[in-house]
Amino acid sequence: MTSADLPAVSGIEAGAYRFPWSEQVFRSCLRAGYTCRVAAEDDRVRGYGIVSLAANEAHLLNLCIDPAEQGRGWGGWLLRHLFGIVRVRHAERMFLEVRPSNRPAVRLYEGHGFVHVGTRRGYYPAVSGGREDARVYALSLRHEEGARGT
Ligand SMILES: CC(C)(COP(=O)(O)OP(=O)(O)OC[C@H]1O[C@@H](n2cnc3c(N)ncnc32)[C@H](O)[C@@H]1OP(=O)(O)O)[C@@H](O)C(=O)NCCC(=O)NCCS
Repeated sequence: MTSADLPAVSGIEAGAYRFPWSEQVFRSCLRAGYTCRVAAEDDRVRGYGIVSLAANEAHLLNLCIDPAEQGRGWGGWLLRHLFGIVRVRHAERMFLEVRPSNRPAVRLYEGHGFVHVGTRRGYYPAVSGGREDARVYALSLRHEEGARGT
């Protein structure tokens, strides 16, 4: 991902989430040196993933596929691509937060071996105006090989 991708990335973000990140947040991720990748086909961005890495722990901050392209394998492909990148950088575990109501994402992560390790109460804003908990998932990158090939 480069700053040239940000209009496309922000457009996908706005279409995919009820509480999207602003373009400024993506800019900050690029500036911070996070691992920011787009998945593209025919020069069109189809999705993106962002991971921060510190002390051998990777944190998946965003993984998003264009709603028109969801369910075609892009999400799994990008996730496995990110595993490969952070492993080379000596990450031993990957963490993420997800809304329990987000069935496609929960299915994707559990299908790749992530284990539910905790809950952050009231982590997300909810459409109702209240808050929704986040499930925290973790994956050991040293033992993940058996779950799905990378
Ligand atoms: C979650 C997301 C990244 C998955 O990407 P994707 O390209 O649609 O997923 P894939 O095609 O690679 O499929 C991965 C798994 O998710 C499942 N899945 C995909 N869409 C689904 C849907 N609408 N309902 C239920 N499961 C679904 C697939 O069945 C597949 O599981 P399987 O291999 O066990 O069959 C995508 O739906 C998305 O961008 N959602 C909006 C943003 C978001 O919520 N990101 C996650 C934030 S934590």
